[in-house]
Amino acid sequence: MTENQNVSFHLYDEQPKRFIYEMRPEKEIAISTHDMQVYYGDKLALDDADLSFERFKITSLIGASGSGKSTFLRSLNRMNDDVATVKGQIMYRGLDINFKDIDVYEMRRHIGMVFQRPNPFAKSIRENITFALKQHGITDKAYLDEMVEHSLRQAALWDEVKDSLDASALSLSGGQAQRLVIARAIAMKPDILLLDEPASALDPISSAKIEDTLLELKKHYTIIIVTHNMQQAARISDYTAFFHMGRVLEYNETRKIFTRPKVQLTIDYVNGNFG
Ligand SMILES: Nc1ncnc2c1ncn2[C@@H]1O[C@H](COP(=O)(O)OP(=O)(O)O)[C@@H](O)[C@H]1O
Ligand SMILES: [Mg+2]
Repeated sequence: MTENQNVSFHLYDEQPKRFIYEMRPEKEIAISTHDMQVYYGDKLALDDADLSFERFKITSLIGASGSGKSTFLRSLNRMNDDVATVKGQIMYRGLDINFKDIDVYEMRRHIGMVFQRPNPFAKSIRENITFALKQHGITDKAYLDEMVEHSLRQAALWDEVKDSLDASALSLSGGQAQRLVIARAIAMKPDILLLDEPASALDPISSAKIEDTLLELKKHYTIIIVTHNMQQAARISDYTAFFHMGRVLEYNETRKIFTRPKVQLTIDYVNGNFG
């Protein structure tokens, strides 16, 4: 299997060299934002976001509703282009992906997104995985079959669907559909997976499966996840960023955020005193 077949999106090798908070300079950074601000019309929804995300780690974004978590996450793969103005830099492998002339379609092969509500296509399970690959010109059947199995295995769904690959994806349970959407995202072989509350619409068992899947996936991908569930953030993430009223108030290793945060508002939030 060829890695990143047919990629025409050239990236520079140089890593951005700026590190913030307590992240140590020897860490490898997958993506970082610099002086980022997001406006909806005149309204400043996110200010001064300077965050670096370590490669092959899970970072949770936490904070009350309306604190800017989705705004931040969506900006990382240009989902806000139509509704918001994003200022500052978003550095990915030496490239500012906030630059207007970036090929957004290609960029999203490298930075995939999964939403709160599972949104499988009204197609078979198999076609959900192969659709985007075919759109990118991949036609080799053996390769497509291999990607179907590989992605479904990585998303911990293979055993449940391997005998019904041609069944409609709409027949899956919510938890299975969300793992299918994750499989669909990883079939594109992205570097980075962005997930906006991927488990909040799911029952606890499905949610636990998603958590296990993410812990497995971080061996291969850098994961940034918005979650309202503090236990979930504590269980799965290496780093946690606390958002409050459009600013990142604290960003650190997860165990520090949960055991000895530096900011009183973080203490209040992780202890459930507001939100
Ligand atoms: N499409 C939009 N148009 C205008 N304002 C928006 C839009 N999306 C979000 N906002 C506003 O931006 C702020 C941050 O929202 P959001 O990023 O969705 O927060 P969170 O994900 O932390 O709940 C809120 O005040 C919200 O009302
Ligand atoms: Mg949100």
